[in-house]
Amino acid sequence: MTPAFMDIFKEWADRYDFAVNGNDLEYKDVFVNYPFMLNEAAKRATGKTIEFGPGTGNLTLLLLARSIEVIAVEPSPDMAAIGEAKTGIEFEQGDFLNFDAETADTIISSFAFHHLTDEEKEQALKQYADILTADGQVIILDTMFNSEKEKKEMIHDYTEAGSHNLVADLNREYYPLKEVMSKIAKRQGFTYESVQLNKFAHLQILKKKKFKQPTDLIGHTPLVELTHFDLPADVRLFAKLEMYNLGGSVKDRLGINLIESAIKRGEIRNEVVEATAGNTGIGLALACQQHNLALKVFLPEKFSIEKQAIMQALGAAIVHTDASLGMVEARRQAKAYADETGAYYANQFETEDNPASYEGLYQELKEELGTIDMMVAGAGSAGTFTGLAERMKPDGARAVIVEPEGSILNGGPSGSHRTEGIGVEVWPTFLKRDLIDAVETISDDDAFRMVQELAQKEGLLVGSSSGAAMVAALKQAENVQGNIVVIFPDASDRYISQKIFKSKGEL
Ligand SMILES: Cc1ncc(COP(=O)(O)O)c(C=O)c1O
Repeated sequence: MTPAFMDIFKEWADRYDFAVNGNDLEYKDVFVNYPFMLNEAAKRATGKTIEFGPGTGNLTLLLLARSIEVIAVEPSPDMAAIGEAKTGIEFEQGDFLNFDAETADTIISSFAFHHLTDEEKEQALKQYADILTADGQVIILDTMFNSEKEKKEMIHDYTEAGSHNLVADLNREYYPLKEVMSKIAKRQGFTYESVQLNKFAHLQILKKKKFKQPTDLIGHTPLVELTHFDLPADVRLFAKLEMYNLGGSVKDRLGINLIESAIKRGEIRNEVVEATAGNTGIGLALACQQHNLALKVFLPEKFSIEKQAIMQALGAAIVHTDASLGMVEARRQAKAYADETGAYYANQFETEDNPASYEGLYQELKEELGTIDMMVAGAGSAGTFTGLAERMKPDGARAVIVEPEGSILNGGPSGSHRTEGIGVEVWPTFLKRDLIDAVETISDDDAFRMVQELAQKEGLLVGSSSGAAMVAALKQAENVQGNIVVIFPDASDRYISQKIFKSKGEL
């Protein structure tokens, strides 16, 4: 809220009650039926209630009379002094965006929400969505316009009538359009209803939506225990099923974080470019679709056509690079494109934003398992491994990194492999050697055989990098006691064209 408003509140404090009671003739129409309107708002409040901008305490009094527990948050000391004297409760210093409360059942406000710009209104609702309980609601009683045309006509009429203070108010403050309020509310996960109570005032009720939005489906994937494989008696094996992310892989976590971190730093203009084997492209395509950004993906042509089709469906443009020159060539071309056009190069192989994307994955696993004694993850960019190992090793976990034969982490020569999504041609810049307790190098045959075994023994339909990680976890199970967690990055069905369910002899 701008400091200018604080001066207005100072001026207003003394004459506010005079105006709301209908004595200020310019504001008479704004406050027609004031006691009735406040009562309509107050009677909907339930549970722990935060009232923003209680001002001189008129709504607060009605809430207290209904035995509602009220936290009154008021920015203006002048208003608060009057309100506190009237209600007998202490007001907290704060405003719509800056306050202390951590939970609430109801957030309520009368004739104050218009002090926020539309952008601030959205930020406020975003915060409220976080602190409100599952059945929580926001109740806003305030002036609002049904259309731009209505606003213009009212400003015209009240100018004619000589209500200059009111007109100045209508022009200066951020009285919203109903359509805008409804959009902002829905974007922040609320249902939106409003009832008009006089020529100016609308009572708006925003309830937390019981249904998820698509982007809520990034993260919070299921963790399952695998019980159909032979394990040492003191070992339990858990798999994190990252195929349940919205875009079908662990890389949705990366995509959304790469884009939102760069937006926050102000580094994205309108286009994003990346080199990827596929899943990162899908994660980025989802994030770009959410933020209305264009995405160009450089991709060696050998990779699965299913992943390419999904990326394209989400709006990405694909450029094929020579498969025999590997990811190194795709990266060179992506960087050259960014240099040439000013597009934002997401650069998953080098940016620290990559490992940082897995903070949420770490938190979920810690919450689900308590103690983690060993973590097993494949490495392509090594972001998943690094993000998890950096966070889990201080908690005492051993970190096992998995690669296919043909990847260079164990010092072996670079070469081609069927296992898709993992494998490293050059050492990832952010991968520190001391994070690695063991490298497991798994043959394509073993990885693909394990894909079939996981389908038949556990009913899990995973990609070949999950197969490789599972082989590695079973090998390493001898070296640990307690809980092993293995990351399964994606599902089988995006590799049907790559004959995921066929082993070498059947190809
Ligand atoms: C199927 C699959 N598994 C594993 C990985 C490896 O993840 P990271 O790049 O974080 O090492 C990827 C990366 O693209 C992948 O697509």
